[in-house]
Amino acid sequence: MKSITFSNGDQMPIIGLGTWKSKPGEVYQAVLWAIEAGYRHIDCAAIYDNEKEVGNALDKAFKDGVVKREELFITSKLWNSNHRLDDVVPALKKTLKDLQLECLDLYLIHWPISFKKGVLFAQTREEFYTYGDVPLSQTWEGMEEVKKMGLAKHIGVSNFNITKLEEIIKSSQFAPEMNQVEMHPFLPQDKLVNFCRSKNILMTAYSPLGSGDRATANKKANEPSLLENEVVKEIASKHRVSSAQILISYSVHRNIAVIPKSVNQDRIVQNLASIEVNLDEIDMQKLANIGTAYRFIDGSFFTGTQSPYKLTDLWEKE
Ligand code: A2P
Repeated sequence: MKSITFSNGDQMPIIGLGTWKSKPGEVYQAVLWAIEAGYRHIDCAAIYDNEKEVGNALDKAFKDGVVKREELFITSKLWNSNHRLDDVVPALKKTLKDLQLECLDLYLIHWPISFKKGVLFAQTREEFYTYGDVPLSQTWEGMEEVKKMGLAKHIGVSNFNITKLEEIIKSSQFAPEMNQVEMHPFLPQDKLVNFCRSKNILMTAYSPLGSGDRATANKKANEPSLLENEVVKEIASKHRVSSAQILISYSVHRNIAVIPKSVNQDRIVQNLASIEVNLDEIDMQKLANIGTAYRFIDGSFFTGTQSPYKLTDLWEKE
């Protein structure tokens, strides 16, 4: 499996299994199928509310001798309600307990948005902390602590724009090593990719297939479809593969890790096989000129009228 490489030489397999929206009752089997198929990278998060079940699957795979811990790359993410310095290490310890692991390969701040302790999704003004209450530099200090304690080998962020990354880098002892953001041909994030490359920050693309299984409350009417896009379909038919495989290969081609979610065995196998698709420069050019710009995870659930945060706290102006 092709990998991307951290500055200390550690490798992260470029295709991983996404577990957002994978329900308890489904994710256990999905993780076992993925490991059996050859996945060596699993992307998790505390807020996905399925880490215990992922942990049971990992335990089974280790006990059955299918894979060793050191052969797997496991990522998880710090939820918004644990951004205060004293809350970071305990939040990670809970994740480690659920995943039944001693340490993570990568731990990320999930969003540059802060909730009060115990709040899952802030609805009212009182349930949010502002940057004045809990600056991102404080949360990052907690992440550095995690690294020093050896509880995660690498630390980084998710959903951070250039301004927020610069803010963290300025105050940091260890710079972020990863930025995981939504990325696909409708949202190539060229400016952010160039910035991250210039700072040695690796990237992971989430929602590479457009996350069509989001709850309807998180979807807009008439969203464009990546999987049904004519340009993607034409390139898929040229290579005799599926649209999903073209979309996964698009990130691989850009040297960006990619974490398609599936709980279906055939699709889990198919998605990993995208590594064999060789997109050429003409294909990449066509995808670059696809003609649709769209962000599926728009962050509006964190920036409503009760929130102290604005969309400009999240996204880059493309
Ligand atoms: P399923 O889990 O039933 O396979 P994303 O990774 O962008 O969040 O997208 C996940 C969605 O895409 C899920 O609905 C998932 O369904 C579906 N999916 C995953 N792999 C494929 C594939 N190879 N072809 C079509 N749909 C896929």
